[in-house]
Amino acid sequence: MRRGMSTCVISVDIIYQWQVGSFLFWFVLAMYFDNIIPNASGVRKPIFYFLTPGYWTGKGGNKMEEGSIFSCIGSVPPVEHVASEDQDVLEEETLVKQQAMDGIVDPNIAVQIHGLAKTYPGTTKLGCCKCTKTSPFHAVKGLWMNIAKDQLFCMLGPNGAGKTTSISCLTGINPITGGDALIYGDSVRSSVGMSNIRKMIGVCPQFDILWDALSSEEHLHLFASIKGLPPPSINSTAEKLLADVKLTGAAKVRAGSYSGGMKRRLSVAVALIGDPKLTTGMDPITRRHVWDIIQESKKGRAIILTTHSMEEADILSDRIGIMAKGRLRCIGTSIRLKSRFGTGFVATVSFTESKKDNSNASGDSHEPVKRFFNEHLKVEPADENKAFMTFVIPPRQRETAYGKDGF
Ligand SMILES: Nc1ncnc2c1ncn2[C@@H]1O[C@H](COP(=O)(O)OP(=O)(O)O)[C@@H](O)[C@H]1O
Ligand SMILES: [Mg+2]
Repeated sequence: MRRGMSTCVISVDIIYQWQVGSFLFWFVLAMYFDNIIPNASGVRKPIFYFLTPGYWTGKGGNKMEEGSIFSCIGSVPPVEHVASEDQDVLEEETLVKQQAMDGIVDPNIAVQIHGLAKTYPGTTKLGCCKCTKTSPFHAVKGLWMNIAKDQLFCMLGPNGAGKTTSISCLTGINPITGGDALIYGDSVRSSVGMSNIRKMIGVCPQFDILWDALSSEEHLHLFASIKGLPPPSINSTAEKLLADVKLTGAAKVRAGSYSGGMKRRLSVAVALIGDPKLTTGMDPITRRHVWDIIQESKKGRAIILTTHSMEEADILSDRIGIMAKGRLRCIGTSIRLKSRFGTGFVATVSFTESKKDNSNASGDSHEPVKRFFNEHLKVEPADENKAFMTFVIPPRQRETAYGKDGF
């Protein structure tokens, strides 16, 4: 070795320090990018989220953002306010606004929706020196309503009305872009509020999210642990829920071999883990045994059900809201909506032929029925054949016959 040249020695200690240092560096960087890069639902934290005191103290509710981190900021237009033409919707809106202004928190209200709006940002493409963006879409344009405790609120509406979007905003899957919603007083806009909400909410999605290889008992154990139920209570909770949804016999059978109805019932059981105060997004297929479970589950919690089925809404709900194109179009009890918008009752009378004499029987029995409907309700048969006779009774006649409140 020549004189004057220093030797370059890298000790194992230095290598070790470098490895630990670079691990920490990449770990912090990964955590940072995990927070600021939008997740599958487009939700992300602000770029400087770690500078907000709320992030470290867990108080104050730092807000979530959405869209790409490189999106053209501020280009989402606000939803223009259009007053509803429906009297009931206007009354509901005025009531909720009044309560919000006065700061009234009615203990009988589970969910207060204050002008909830959701705009999906258009997609952004970064070209050479230019940012091209497809136009944003207003999926929910300002909902104002209260959802009461111990009741089932049914959200009806055609495809694309904004039902799923509203539910995913209430459950925190999608961040809301306007207004607010309070669930038992906690705001969905605040991350602290949202963590409280997650503890008292159960969601039953439109499609069963189940694992074929797990049995119903294992599903309930898994979800109960994720929800943070105390381990000693998990067994009894699972047993009770399995009995409620009539799956005790299939508790140890893998979900992959279940029928569609059994899978739906298991999804309902998963949504009811931990006795949530609010159960939402329930979208059961028209099956009577699921209806029974829902009727039973109403006690002690608020349920929001979204469906396409008028029959389901009629049977299960205490109150119905109908949405279209992102707005609430009408709201009220099933009887109220029927009396305002329904064509009336359809009464179908069926006739069975007499075995003794079938030559003239139908004609003979038809006449008194027709006379009865004509005298009492002033209606003629809308449809008539040998075996059936159908009468459409308009709401006006129904009121005459049964009093103003109907049945
Ligand atoms: N992630 C999304 N990005 C852009 N538009 C969306 C997204 N999700 C839903 N939409 C649009 O929002 C509208 C409301 O959708 P949705 O809430 O699913 O309606 P519903 O559940 O009442 O059928 C639809 O027109 C739909 O195309
Ligand atoms: Mg939907």
